[in-house]
Amino acid sequence: MNVRQFDRYEEMSRHAAFAVAAQIRQKPDSVLGLATGSTPIALYEDLVKLYQDGLISFRNVKTFNLDEYCGLSTGHPESYHSFMEQHLFSKIDILKENTHLMDGCAKDPAEECRRYEAEIAAAGGIDLQILGIGLDGHIGFNEPDSNFSADSHMVELDASTREANARFFNGDIAKVPTSALTMGMRCIMSARRVILISSGEKKHEILKKALSGPVCPEVPASILQLHPNVDIMFC
Ligand code: GLP
Repeated sequence: MNVRQFDRYEEMSRHAAFAVAAQIRQKPDSVLGLATGSTPIALYEDLVKLYQDGLISFRNVKTFNLDEYCGLSTGHPESYHSFMEQHLFSKIDILKENTHLMDGCAKDPAEECRRYEAEIAAAGGIDLQILGIGLDGHIGFNEPDSNFSADSHMVELDASTREANARFFNGDIAKVPTSALTMGMRCIMSARRVILISSGEKKHEILKKALSGPVCPEVPASILQLHPNVDIMFC
């Protein structure tokens, strides 16, 4: 596990973007696992710049997002579909059919999760997975629990997670969905490389627990200690 602290968010984001760009240049048909939340926004901005400068192309890249809220239509402004469209997909040359997110409105969530995992497998698995981390240590929407969930699944969101994400819903926690679909730990841990980015001192304590505390499902990100190729970038 490589752990690197940066003084500034912009510096960390640029460093992470260069790592993604290097991956794409080395393997133009890379499969990327993508994250949402406020942390990766500058990373996506930097990727857009690298694309505009002609240094990378997403023409043959495939993407799979970590998670999606249940009950929000794809066009809802706070759906992760919209987030990805707004911050990345609409600004690069990726093919629409190569971008994948779970359908949070699927009638049969368990079937939707199975379908999604089959798509990832058919694409050859994830080459590089970008992760953020929640204040409670969640990755994707894998919340603290009594066991690690290997399979992609529907999850009830913790009150603290809904509270943290209320800022995206005009500060109104009642508008934050109560459940979500998330990639499970098997998908995340099967990625050939993982980069976790974390911004802000308020996450230092949970990050410390995740990186040097016991590996336990109460701190979901601690499972990354068992991954052979992880970069932690934080500021
Ligand atoms: C959400 C996402 C996570 C993300 C986390 C942290 O809950 N599902 O994938 O890592 O928020 O978000 P932020 O970067 O805004 O702190």
